[in-house]
Amino acid sequence: MRATAIAQPNIALIKYWGKRDVARNLPAVGSISVTLRELYTEMRVHLDAELPADSLTVNGKENSAMLWRLGACIDRVAGETRPRVDIASRTNFPIAAGLASSASAFAAATVAAAAAAGRSLSLPKLASLAGRASGSAARSLCGGFVELTNTPDDVSVRTIAAAGEWPLQVIVAITEAGPKAVGSTAAMEASRKTSPFYSSWVEQQAHDLDIARQAIDARDFEQLAAIAEHNCLKMHSVMWTSRPPVVYWNSATMRCLQAVRDLQAAGLGVFFTMDAGPQVKVVCLPEHAKAAQASLVAIDGVTEVMVSTLGEGARLVEPK
Ligand code: DP6
Repeated sequence: MRATAIAQPNIALIKYWGKRDVARNLPAVGSISVTLRELYTEMRVHLDAELPADSLTVNGKENSAMLWRLGACIDRVAGETRPRVDIASRTNFPIAAGLASSASAFAAATVAAAAAAGRSLSLPKLASLAGRASGSAARSLCGGFVELTNTPDDVSVRTIAAAGEWPLQVIVAITEAGPKAVGSTAAMEASRKTSPFYSSWVEQQAHDLDIARQAIDARDFEQLAAIAEHNCLKMHSVMWTSRPPVVYWNSATMRCLQAVRDLQAAGLGVFFTMDAGPQVKVVCLPEHAKAAQASLVAIDGVTEVMVSTLGEGARLVEPK
């Protein structure tokens, strides 16, 4: 009862922020993301009644902090009477730093646990299970441009354009590799309960999703850039106006935003987005990725820059 799955993180262009049902972890809003290719989480799940206890290693080191959340995810997939589990996770990018590490981790865990438990699950069922663990994880089940839609009682995910159909690139500028100060689950709840802008954020989301979907269908980079930056800044405005305020940016984050504005003024096809952390993600037309990368590498406070094309959804692999 062993299986290994790989999943890539995804970066939301139209963001998920806030929950409509905390107990079932159902998002308040739909979202649209791109799944990356070069960043990955590989998760090996070994179910065995003979194991002395549940255990987890991340990049070869024991990790008890994430074990309960991954264990709960595996309970939902394999059933609460499942045998004990040994989980080994490997990843090639910083964890819990606003880089969607939970998305790739829980997507990979869901797919691997289903196979290890001998369950063949449909995409809607996998999306429901991955989404219970982490809202953004359901999107990493699919590749390319992915839309997560709220259904009356759950979520559904689908690819709206495959990676090869519009081969944009994403540059991730790391400005702080340590774990974030406030986790997104707690920060979202603070926003829902205290930000005076939260209800407008939720109300306007259907409109933003429509504009982004049209832009993707028409391969209209400018339209996608304008709505994605607007949606990202609205999400951060909701965070900033929460009590206590949730501010993930640092001074290097601001310098990256300025660099993106300079590149845009020079006519390059680039736009920024940011999540629950100080890293800046720059989405670019492939022909402008090199110039954007060079400009981000030179910024004071940027410690690392990673470039990714768009990739596929979570899948089973042979263990290495
Ligand atoms: C800012 O999926 O990490 O990255 O469901 O509580 O695990 P939980 O939240 P999570 O939130 C992601 C928030 C975001 C925006 C996004 O990815 O859509």
